[in-house]
Amino acid sequence: METRRVAKRAPHYLRQLYSSLLGTRDGRRERLVILGTGWGSYSVLKKVDKKRFDAIVISPRNHFLFTPLLASTTVGTLEFRSIIEPVRNTGFRDEHHFHLSYASDLDTDRRVVHCTSSLDPNHQYEVPYDRLVIGVGADTNHFNIPGVLENAFFLKEIADARNIRNQIMVNFELATQHDAEPEERRRLLHFVVVGGGPTGVEFSAEFYDFLAQDLQRLFPDEKDTVRVTLVEANEILSAFDSRLRSYTERLISKRSAMNIVKAAVTKVAEKAVHLSDGSVLPCGMVIWSTGVAPRQFTRKVSLEKNRQGQILVDSHLRVLGDTSGRVFALGDCAQVEGHTLPCTAQVAERQGRYLARALSHQHSPASPEPAPFVFKPWGMLAYVGGYQALHDTPYDKSHGFHSWLLWRSAYTTQLGSWRLRMQVPIDWTKTYFFGRDTSRF
Ligand code: NAI
Repeated sequence: METRRVAKRAPHYLRQLYSSLLGTRDGRRERLVILGTGWGSYSVLKKVDKKRFDAIVISPRNHFLFTPLLASTTVGTLEFRSIIEPVRNTGFRDEHHFHLSYASDLDTDRRVVHCTSSLDPNHQYEVPYDRLVIGVGADTNHFNIPGVLENAFFLKEIADARNIRNQIMVNFELATQHDAEPEERRRLLHFVVVGGGPTGVEFSAEFYDFLAQDLQRLFPDEKDTVRVTLVEANEILSAFDSRLRSYTERLISKRSAMNIVKAAVTKVAEKAVHLSDGSVLPCGMVIWSTGVAPRQFTRKVSLEKNRQGQILVDSHLRVLGDTSGRVFALGDCAQVEGHTLPCTAQVAERQGRYLARALSHQHSPASPEPAPFVFKPWGMLAYVGGYQALHDTPYDKSHGFHSWLLWRSAYTTQLGSWRLRMQVPIDWTKTYFFGRDTSRF
């Protein structure tokens, strides 16, 4: 507010001096509207030069979620608030610069984003932008398979993890009621995980730890009844090295409560899943983790897209076909034309950092265009349970306890703030000494 007053009253030459000091045109900061608070958008928000831009964020989520550790919260190894960071902590210039809303459409001619409040669906409004960053992420892909939306649990947000954690406990409590028939107990304590990508495997790993370290102690009569089935249509962990894949398959199959079924799920009923081989698995809970699909906003906007429905961008992350060069897209909702970058946190975070730098750079007319975005993968990590993990980097492909140490230390350092870097190891220590909290809310 103060800066705008100075800019308005000052004579032209003073305004120019003021602008060059702040890097703004006409003494006014550009409105950089950022859609989303995931890896890509949050990274732009944190790193962009706030002296040059008014960062305005539109997102139905007012926190950043450290997704690599989300599976740990489904069983209480970590607590929910230990892996989230409120976006308002990033220091908005004006408290009105965060909108708890969905972006519902985009008008690139008028340079406005159409928004709907997350708190009141009748409140619909427009937000103008000078530059726009689209980082809305992706939804869980359910392939329109019948019953998935109604009967399965997803694992994308903190609310999903909380629902899963509660339902696990409900199933155990129901199974231990005095009048529960043995067959019904077996059904209630059969957990089916659909999709053997990193999400499905890491959830199964966390559940295995919960079972081995807490549930068997708390529910000794049920310890031989509990079963976890991981259903995978093709290969588990298909993005990982083949030796690591076979190791994980052997490890999971050795665990008495767990097994892998190679089939595609064709239907999810209320109390069972139907498989492509005609079999039916009665179960008490289904966790659905079969990859990503475009969000409604991405589907709706009239921008160039690839066959997967992702917004196409050039190597500077500018959306194709937008001649203004003011609209950018990154993360899971976008794809660099001619590339197939994976939909991972690593890609989105690095794109966000690149874009923050490029935006600040573009602002100076004297400088040439910044170098294009290049993704050099650092590798992948995955937890497989029982203090074992996988690491698959260009230099080393390995598994075991040392990979688990690497997994924990890598994620601890990557956590976005010192608060989280303190909180997460405290939760791990608490879980190790006192077990997980099995309360149901
Ligand atoms: P994904 O796309 O990696 O795996 C989904 C799996 O589901 C595939 O193997 C597919 O064959 C299977 N599938 C699809 N439809 C099926 C059906 N009807 N029945 C049975 N199986 C079916 O998906 P995920 O695990 O959700 O991960 C999404 C993205 O996030 C990926 O790019 C992944 O690499 C990334 N990610 C990486 C992590 C890590 O590096 N630790 C952790 C979590 C996610």
